[in-house]
Amino acid sequence: CGIVGYVGPQQAQGVVIEGLRRLEYRGYDSAGIALVVDGELASDKRAGKLANLEKAVAASPLPPSTTGIGHTRWATHGAPNDVNAHPHTGGARRVALVHNGIIENFAELRDRIEADDHVMLSETDTEVAAQLLELQVESGIDLTTAMQRVCRQLEGAFTLVAIDSHDPSRVVAARRNSPLVVGIGEGENFLGSDVAAFIEHTREAMELGQDQVVTITRDGVEVTDFDGNPSEGKRYHVTWDLSAAEKDGHDWFMRKEIFEQPRAVADSLLGRRTPAGLLHLDEMRLSDDELRDVTKIIIIACGTSFYAGMVAKYAIEHWTRTPVEVELASEFRYRDPILDYSTLVVAISQSGETADTLQAIRHARTQRSKVLAICNTNGSTIPRESDAVIYTHAGPEIGVASTKGFLTQLVACYLLALYVAQVKGTRYGDEITEIVHQLEEMPDHIATVLESAEQVYELARSHLDTRSVLFLGRHAGYPVALEGALKLKELAYIHAEGFAAGELKHGPIALIEEGMPVLCVVPPQGRDQLHEKMISGIQEVRARGARTICLAEEGDTKIEPYADVLIRLPKVPVLLQPLVAIVPLQLFACELATAMGHDVDQPRNLAKSVTVE
Ligand code: G6P
Repeated sequence: CGIVGYVGPQQAQGVVIEGLRRLEYRGYDSAGIALVVDGELASDKRAGKLANLEKAVAASPLPPSTTGIGHTRWATHGAPNDVNAHPHTGGARRVALVHNGIIENFAELRDRIEADDHVMLSETDTEVAAQLLELQVESGIDLTTAMQRVCRQLEGAFTLVAIDSHDPSRVVAARRNSPLVVGIGEGENFLGSDVAAFIEHTREAMELGQDQVVTITRDGVEVTDFDGNPSEGKRYHVTWDLSAAEKDGHDWFMRKEIFEQPRAVADSLLGRRTPAGLLHLDEMRLSDDELRDVTKIIIIACGTSFYAGMVAKYAIEHWTRTPVEVELASEFRYRDPILDYSTLVVAISQSGETADTLQAIRHARTQRSKVLAICNTNGSTIPRESDAVIYTHAGPEIGVASTKGFLTQLVACYLLALYVAQVKGTRYGDEITEIVHQLEEMPDHIATVLESAEQVYELARSHLDTRSVLFLGRHAGYPVALEGALKLKELAYIHAEGFAAGELKHGPIALIEEGMPVLCVVPPQGRDQLHEKMISGIQEVRARGARTICLAEEGDTKIEPYADVLIRLPKVPVLLQPLVAIVPLQLFACELATAMGHDVDQPRNLAKSVTVE
């Protein structure tokens, strides 16, 4: 998750560990360092906090060196332990490598390496890259050329940084779909996953482009593409202070995380399809027969994760024709739910540590139900106690109010639904492939929504005196309305409520007063009269004086007469619409709360992970 590289006159150990400390804010579960020392590698890596690594190198110091790399890891493939920590080395311990991201075709590459009698030491996709790189340099080529060759074989998203013990003059890095910045010093150069890694040493930076390899030496920085053709990075001067640098130039982690969502969604979709186009969920330890026997699915979760579960119900029932219940984890075991071996319990938890959810799955397992966890934290308690896991790849979420965690949970839920549909045969290959394609287009759509953030910000700032806001939605837009309201409660401490638009007339409409803002998630046009019904609901509140703020797809002209404010969403299928529709609501809550002077990263009374029932 955090990456540092250094070559220059200073002691690399100090520069690297200090850089890792500056990147600690990114969250991690292990840390490691590797140095070039007299033709050999010296390295150490430890599970847990950076302090563990520091203690270890204080107890048995690494020899002096001026070329090194370091890493703080957030586990994706393989548990967070000493062995899986980075750097990884090749079998001959000549090359050391650190990696962020996911190498999608790692299983295929690992089989190839093992077929050549090389032994793999860890369970990570990173070691595959380290082994390949070492085989290349052992054949007599330099590390830069080796890196280019290896990158041409890799699929997925990655930042790689490597050293070759036979060549102390250089550190070589590469990137595809994963960030990497060069820090340009005088007689020394740096690499970092962001500028916070080296900002104390230099403010001259170079951002690498897609599919580029960079070689840093003491006196130079050389960029090529994966084919070895000369290329260029983008130079800039860093004007941020350290605290802004950690947030990628944003004022709050939450805002940074909202803007990371296209990447987080793309990462959560990586590596889920076999070359034959079939979906596979690699952490799935339930057999196809076990899944076929499932007659009922119960989703349990808390807070934002619960709303992801509500969207999942629409998708799973529609695609798989399996009945789904969604239940608050805190209520679940106390109502004596009907469970048996044919019930699949799906527990959704970003942190994997929420006590309510944990107790609920423990109860389910005593009733012989299978449990599948959807989780963002590798090795946390909930996945450890489950029969199967789908990990989301949002990366660590620091803001207490969940944003990218939610979007990636939605992705995992869609994938689970499609997987069950594939196994049960309720949907066929082409249709599944088509939906997966649509999912793969979502990062671009989310990015489009983020481009119009300024419109939402202005709107938010005009609501500083508002004391109550309603949110309306239908179908998959209903949980979006609930989540939009939750964001506003959590961050701006404003009374906010979400309703199913059709339920309005049965009570909540009595709340409407002149000028009350009502945010409406309008479903796409042309399906089951959902759109028309939503418009009637909007008309009803508008007729009673509400100020309607409508989120509606591009090209929807029918909504125009009923919207006091119109925010456009990209055209996407109704079941996938939550992925784009929630984004303006996150931006709205974040901006309104910050304009009110609140701390959006740590809202009052809330905790990121609630480990008491
Ligand atoms: C806490 C957080 C919420 C989160 C909920 C569930 O209440 O403040 O943002 O949605 O826990 O957390 P989990 O980690 O289980 O998804």
